[in-house]
Amino acid sequence: MAERKRFEGSSLLVVDDEAEHLLSLRRLFEREGAAVHTAASGELALEVVRKEHVDLILCDLMMPGMSGQDLLRAARAVRPDLDVIVMTAYATVENAVEAMREGAYDFIQKPFKSALILRVVERALERQSLKAENIMLRRELAEVSPDTVRGKPIVGRSPAMMETMEIVRQAAPSTATVLLQGESGTGKELMARALHEYSGRLEAPFVVVNCAALPESILEAELFGYEKGAFTGASERKLGRIERAHKGTLFLDEVGELSPQVQAKLLRVLQENELERLGGHETIHVDFRLVSATNRDLEAAVQNGTFREDLYYRLNVIAVRLPPLRDRPEDIPLIADHFVRRYAKKNAKPITGITEEARKACLAYRWPGNVRELENVMERAVVLAKGEVLDTLDLPEPIRNASRERGEIRREGRTVVIPLGTKLEDVERVLIHETLKETDGDKTLAAQLLGIAARTIYRKLDAEKKKDD
Ligand SMILES: Nc1ncnc2c1ncn2[C@@H]1O[C@H](COP(=O)(O)OP(=O)(O)OP(=O)(O)O)[C@@H](O)[C@H]1O
Ligand SMILES: [Mg+2]
Repeated sequence: MAERKRFEGSSLLVVDDEAEHLLSLRRLFEREGAAVHTAASGELALEVVRKEHVDLILCDLMMPGMSGQDLLRAARAVRPDLDVIVMTAYATVENAVEAMREGAYDFIQKPFKSALILRVVERALERQSLKAENIMLRRELAEVSPDTVRGKPIVGRSPAMMETMEIVRQAAPSTATVLLQGESGTGKELMARALHEYSGRLEAPFVVVNCAALPESILEAELFGYEKGAFTGASERKLGRIERAHKGTLFLDEVGELSPQVQAKLLRVLQENELERLGGHETIHVDFRLVSATNRDLEAAVQNGTFREDLYYRLNVIAVRLPPLRDRPEDIPLIADHFVRRYAKKNAKPITGITEEARKACLAYRWPGNVRELENVMERAVVLAKGEVLDTLDLPEPIRNASRERGEIRREGRTVVIPLGTKLEDVERVLIHETLKETDGDKTLAAQLLGIAARTIYRKLDAEKKKDD
């Protein structure tokens, strides 16, 4: 029997403006059994990434037109899990370092020996299959023993959820601050509690402070505590919540609402691990893990000067973004079923699940209140339902109608669904904005992905703005 070639079943894309180099690499990799695509420019390579399944890209850095670095960013916007190996001449090692920072998997200096490039590629492919295996194993594991908070399971197997849980598990034992960002009801508090439970600080307190719920003066006293006589009505010493979180976790919810004065005081506590109670002189040492959450765009608040930049960086050592439910549709039926079962049991009703049609309606709905809204909807439906399976009629009107109103363009994960009958103008607008989300607002990169000139995107956005004004 012929020996299995080492790259068999793998698909590589080689990008270089030197035809000779392309050819020799193609031969080299094909000899090892790989399927090889080649492209003589970044633009052509991007076309391949869009159309073909590729496991790995090898690209030259210096190319006329779209550079290797541009390609790297564009390719990863199209396929975030794609590994890129950068090939570069000695003179551009600095660029290669920059490329690594942008997420290149590895780089190799030209000229190189065949054995070396084969080894680098082999390692990258191995890592890819390990990654894939890892995700599968985690999924299986999640089914057997799901992550839990206070004994209740954290439901969800979408790639976004798996990634979030991975970060939570890795970050939990450290004392690095974590900033949870996400729309209302996406599970920020749940993740904060998970961080605490997985931290090994479980015996110590988990202290919650909602920064939006209290007026500034009261919030300050609550956080930092006060001495007897610090102000009228301070009849005895009171420990602040920061102090009470000693050895445990402090959860600052809606942290974007903190006033400038409290921001400044909090920054000091984070820098020095010390505080003074209001009206007190004693310096108290505190040791706690800070997790904060916000549904506001904190970066924008920093830009417009309402949130301190230095504090932002202190809070944001580890950033966790919880995607809205509509962007992880795979999780919707799982979470719906979970809550149906939970509330059926709680209300002693013999309900076993939901109909296919009801499931479809749930998938079509936008869920502005995310998991919390889904939970509430399922609880209500279970309580009111007469049959053994929840039907569309058991759901509130907006959700029932969602499946009929599918005339709207909507996003499902990394796909935009465009119903027939949509105006071309709307398609263009949505596509531009969704692409900009992927590129973190980088208009040049977005234009490259859309295959239009950068000035076109600026013009279209301007026109839109004028129309809105
Ligand atoms: N993946 C999940 N699995 C199971 N339950 C979840 C999940 N995500 C959220 N929940 C539940 O949904 C509800 C809302 O979650 P949570 O309070 O953590 O959201 P939040 O992001 O803090 O919302 P807000 O911004 O409105 O405060 C809670 O009851 C929580 O237990
Ligand atoms: Mg919350």
